[in-house]
Amino acid sequence: MKISIIGAGNVGYHLSQRLKEVGHQISQIFSRQTNKAVRVSRIIGAVPIDNISSLQPDAQLYIIAVKDDAIATVAEKMRKKLPGNTWVVHTSGSTPSDVLAPHFNNYGVFYPLQTFSINRMADFLNIPILVDSNKELMKNRLFQLAETVSSKVYLINDEQRAKIHVTAVMVNNFSNHLYSIAEDILRKEELPMEILIPLIQETSKKISMFPAKEMQTGPAIRGDEKTIQRHLKFLEQYNGYQEVYQMMTESLQKMYGDKS
Ligand SMILES: NC(=O)c1ccc[n+]([C@@H]2O[C@H](COP(=O)([O-])OP(=O)(O)OC[C@H]3O[C@@H](n4cnc5c(N)ncnc54)[C@H](OP(=O)(O)O)[C@@H]3O)[C@@H](O)[C@H]2O)c1
Repeated sequence: MKISIIGAGNVGYHLSQRLKEVGHQISQIFSRQTNKAVRVSRIIGAVPIDNISSLQPDAQLYIIAVKDDAIATVAEKMRKKLPGNTWVVHTSGSTPSDVLAPHFNNYGVFYPLQTFSINRMADFLNIPILVDSNKELMKNRLFQLAETVSSKVYLINDEQRAKIHVTAVMVNNFSNHLYSIAEDILRKEELPMEILIPLIQETSKKISMFPAKEMQTGPAIRGDEKTIQRHLKFLEQYNGYQEVYQMMTESLQKMYGDKS
């Protein structure tokens, strides 16, 4: 398939390379920052563009991978260069597909459910790709396209994807925030973060084998109130972290019952 990618951030960078790797042709790659578009274009052999007005109507599919809040305005600008029946998707988990509807008749979503960073390799074969479209034919073609990229492809509508995205934020963004808090505390206490790594790894390994709820341990579910109070006292010096601990403890007690 001939594809153009609008956005050369984390997703644009990795997705364009994967599409190229599995045999698709990337026509153009857009970034407002010329150097970013050029960097990716060199790897994938696409034409770098730094202005949407340079978009060519030669691709079969246009993938918008810009920040969520910019999707609508980017689509509006694209429409000035592309016919209304052009196939256009975005890669956002939380943005409804019909944000593209005012500008294009054939629209959809191509959402890779993973956390991407430019400096970290993406193992696309195991990344779930959630696809949808307002048109049956496009839906089928997006599904087939996703199957060339990953072994885990799902047809998921806007409503379902929004729900999945909420839980993705919880398991990824929130747990990573807790890692950052731990990192900050240990750094300030001059203790090594590496000491927690086996625990973090074992916790995430276990949930692929057992229900997370059954794997919960710790003072909150045991009802070790004195331990909880000691932790809260220690966290008084860490602005904001005590509230996080308190809130998580209350949530755990709500789920498992307060045993104190
Ligand atoms: N990162 C993830 O883990 C992840 C995973 C799945 C889906 N997504 C979704 O994929 C999309 C892109 O995310 P990302 O992580 O790749 O973001 P990112 O690394 O922050 O890159 C965002 C891109 O958006 C462009 N942009 C921002 N404002 C713009 C505007 N007003 N006009 C045109 N371009 C604009 C930036 O362009 P410049 O290069 O021109 O500055 C940048 O290339 C989002 O919808 C996100 O929800 C992200």
